[in-house]
Amino acid sequence: MSKSILITGGAGFIGSHVVRWFVKKYPEYSIYNLDALTYAGNLENLKDVDTAANYSFLKADICDAVEMDRLFKLYKFDAVIHLAAESHVDRSIKDPLSFAKTNILGTLNLLESFKKYSDYQSGLFYHISTDEVYGTLGEKGLFTESTSYDPNSPYSASKASSDHFVRAYGETYGMPFVISNCSNNYGSFQFPEKLIPLFINNIVNSKPLPVYGDGNYTRDWLFVEDHANAIDVVFHQGKIGETYNIGGHNEWKNIDLIKLLCSKMDTYLDRPKGESEKLITFVKDRPGHDLRYAIDASKISKELNWQPSLKFEEGLDRTIEWYLNNQEWLESVTSGAYKNYYNKQYS
Ligand code: NAD
Ligand code: TYD
Repeated sequence: MSKSILITGGAGFIGSHVVRWFVKKYPEYSIYNLDALTYAGNLENLKDVDTAANYSFLKADICDAVEMDRLFKLYKFDAVIHLAAESHVDRSIKDPLSFAKTNILGTLNLLESFKKYSDYQSGLFYHISTDEVYGTLGEKGLFTESTSYDPNSPYSASKASSDHFVRAYGETYGMPFVISNCSNNYGSFQFPEKLIPLFINNIVNSKPLPVYGDGNYTRDWLFVEDHANAIDVVFHQGKIGETYNIGGHNEWKNIDLIKLLCSKMDTYLDRPKGESEKLITFVKDRPGHDLRYAIDASKISKELNWQPSLKFEEGLDRTIEWYLNNQEWLESVTSGAYKNYYNKQYS
């Protein structure tokens, strides 16, 4: 079966893994990667697939409705897997408007163009979302697919809104859709503003490790290739109109994860035991910091037979090794603009 699939945000962290996964596994599909190449998007992330016969790159901004119409009219995509977004909570606190623009209006542009120019009723709009739309948990409990939306950050509010628009297009126009809400991802090609790559990079450079508040915040971590696999499964087997939570059954308090990372880095860098931990610096907390995220992934596991494949320590080792072996990538993505952001955020 030949299908043309638009993947948005395919030059970013998760998107590049999803593009790689689909290009390699499904040579019979035409994969179009649409990305504006913001600070978070980098074509270096796709070097191993960019000459594949079934892959094309379209540089475009999802906020540009005229350009979205032009591209959808031209290519008449059969399906959309939508990942393009502003994704970093700290940036959303400083600049909520750009999150509303890209994550809400950008998503709306895609929905409109898909409705206008594709045979959308026999297609699929797959929205990649986050568990952060559910807000925060206390010490106990898990997010299920029926947990009420209760977002706390401008980032999660914008993702919640775009989830609602996708559902509204399903109800109102009969657009077939699926949504998945995933926990925190980690792995190769993640921009070093997020916790794990930022701290690896800072340890390498013996820079302080800025722990927000007391570090007693909990996240559920999933290896990015397990997420790409889950997206494949939901795309092909997910029930139309349904939501699937995706998580790693892998909760860590930030401070415990950071200590584990420090101890591994001492070994990798051949430094005395305890050296990296000395870099831990408790800094002012993030405003509206969600205490805990944890996912009940039993629906995707029971209905679609998906499970995370990797133990956390193994995934973390693979991630550390990748960053240590790709210092040039790190240097090329941490441009002047990023340095500026870093100085402002942590000054
Ligand atoms: P990322 O920031 O690494 O990548 C985002 C990509 O979108 C970049 O390539 C960027 O250039 C592109 N982009 C941004 N604005 C655009 C625009 N206006 N037009 C076209 N392209 C644009 O993000 P990520 O971590 O890979 O996240 C991808 C998706 O997965 C997002 O929708 C995010 O909300 C969701 N998600 C992320 C996580 C996580 O832990 N990172 C967890 C759950 C869900
Ligand atoms: P992050 O990687 O930004 O993901 P998210 O906010 O989407 O969960 O942060 C993960 C956790 O690490 C979160 O609780 C905030 C914390 N954190 C720090 O303590 N210091 C930092 O410099 C960063 C970037 C995050």
